[in-house]
Amino acid sequence: MPKPKVFVTRLIPDVGLELIRADCDIDVWPERLPPSPEILRERVHNCDGLVSLLTDKIDAALLTAAPRLRVVSNFAVGFNNVDVAAATERNIPVGNTPGVLTEATADIAVTLLLAAARRLCESSTDAKEGRWLTWEPRGWLGADLVGRTIGIVGMGRIGHAVAKRLHFGWGMKVLYTARNLKPEIDMELNAQSVSFETLLAESDFVSVHADLNATTNGMFGSRQFAQMKPTAVFVNTARGPHVDQVALAQALRTGTIFAAGIDVTDPEPLPADHELYQLPNCVIAPHIASATPDTRNAMATLCAANLLAGVRGERLPHCVNPTVYSSGSSD
Ligand code: DGY
Repeated sequence: MPKPKVFVTRLIPDVGLELIRADCDIDVWPERLPPSPEILRERVHNCDGLVSLLTDKIDAALLTAAPRLRVVSNFAVGFNNVDVAAATERNIPVGNTPGVLTEATADIAVTLLLAAARRLCESSTDAKEGRWLTWEPRGWLGADLVGRTIGIVGMGRIGHAVAKRLHFGWGMKVLYTARNLKPEIDMELNAQSVSFETLLAESDFVSVHADLNATTNGMFGSRQFAQMKPTAVFVNTARGPHVDQVALAQALRTGTIFAAGIDVTDPEPLPADHELYQLPNCVIAPHIASATPDTRNAMATLCAANLLAGVRGERLPHCVNPTVYSSGSSD
């Protein structure tokens, strides 16, 4: 019997490629930049399985152009690059990689929070560029952390991991918003579920961990930044489109908020001449939250497990559209 044909849109870690290669006829896009939509459509046309990245747009047109496709395995926990409704309509399960990148992502959220609060990048640039004149009693003053309040927008796995670090490490009070109540987290961290408005008004640090969807797209605009404290630090490790970047730049420029640390932008990469790069109180990382070898290997292993289950017609270990299994045609 011929092996299932699979297209992988980038060089993911070997551990994942080897698992797929053992059972499939695998075509891997070898370039550093993603395949164009035309090339993607052409390569996936005859495939049974697809491994995609957050930089690949998997829309209805692409799925229609791949009549044999039985699974889309996204190498990410987020899946806003995939038209899940279109996949579900075609009974194609979509896999993601939850859990394995929680700790690495929480580490970067806290890193950005600290760097922005203590003006690390700004002062380091000043030092490298000759503006470190002496030890200045009033120079480079940042924000204190101990005993302050962290507002977690989206208390899922990553939000929880960030809240734990800040509560147990710096004694922070934890406020959060979430789709459901989290009584175990309330108990563990003495945390409080509050309205979005209350969180914005009362938090010293606001960290975004919500899924990107129609409701959360653009949830941070001028009005929300104006509701935050002028001393607040804003952190985003979720997705760029949560934020109106013009409003963020204005809030940072005018002192509406104190600083921001962001690992995600819209678009990615952010163009080199974007205003956010010019603002000393904005720390920008190039979407590196999951970038550790252990995390990326675990993502590759999970991604391969989803892919292999899909091409075999088995249930995906992590499926974002499980309703494909209730229709009776894919399981
Ligand atoms: C994800 O997995 O969604 C991250 O943004 C990249 O690791």
